[in-house]
Amino acid sequence: MIITIGNTKGGVGKSTLAVQLALGLALDGQRVWLVDGDRQGTSLGAITVRAESGRAPIAAAAYPDGATLRAQVTQQASAYDHVIIDAGGRDSTALRAALTVSDLMLVPFQPRSFDVWALSDVASLLREARSVRDVRALALLNAADPQGSDNEEASEALADIEGIELLPLRIGRRKAFASASGAGLHIDEYRPRDVNASTELSALKNHLVSILK
Ligand SMILES: Nc1ncnc2c1ncn2[C@@H]1O[C@H](COP(=O)(O)OP(=O)(O)O)[C@@H](O)[C@H]1O
Ligand SMILES: [Mg+2]
Repeated sequence: MIITIGNTKGGVGKSTLAVQLALGLALDGQRVWLVDGDRQGTSLGAITVRAESGRAPIAAAAYPDGATLRAQVTQQASAYDHVIIDAGGRDSTALRAALTVSDLMLVPFQPRSFDVWALSDVASLLREARSVRDVRALALLNAADPQGSDNEEASEALADIEGIELLPLRIGRRKAFASASGAGLHIDEYRPRDVNASTELSALKNHLVSILK
């Protein structure tokens, strides 16, 4: 299955989650391909760091150009169980292209009101993509504050946005996610072990896998 992790807004956790999900599925024994569609190349960079540290590598490539991304994913996807596309950045070309080949879009957002506004941007990109392909979109609250009412407010605001469902789970703001992804490590490989982070990530991965079945 082809999953795009996208949001026109930067810094919401697209690359972090793309790396974690791709590594998580690969450690489960799935054939995974991580496609970096962002010019910044954060995801591919993490996989390169991983390879340099001597860990088992995973397939990864970068296609910052939307047309190339679409062509390559179309041609190569059948060799994998899952393709994870990290698409975003300010230029939405790669994101538009990715959506036309994806089964599912995961939209990370953070519990701040302007992020919720950015989601209406994403909703209009989705309307466009859906004229080509039926892609399901799931919003995911990332870097959530365990305390405070931010999370609840974001959820309420999202209820007004059409075409994007809210995932019934969230990923907390945890240093281990940032450190692990930067080092190209899955959260379960990272030490010191953060059990809460591992539990959250595995719940997300299992939820997505169950949807895609
Ligand atoms: N759940 C999280 N907990 C802690 N830090 C996070 C989390 N998700 C992302 N970050 C950090 O936030 C910053 C932006 O994340 P990143 O994945 O690069 O966003 P994007 O790819 O959407 O621009 C990075 O420094 C990353 O380490
Ligand atoms: Mg990124």
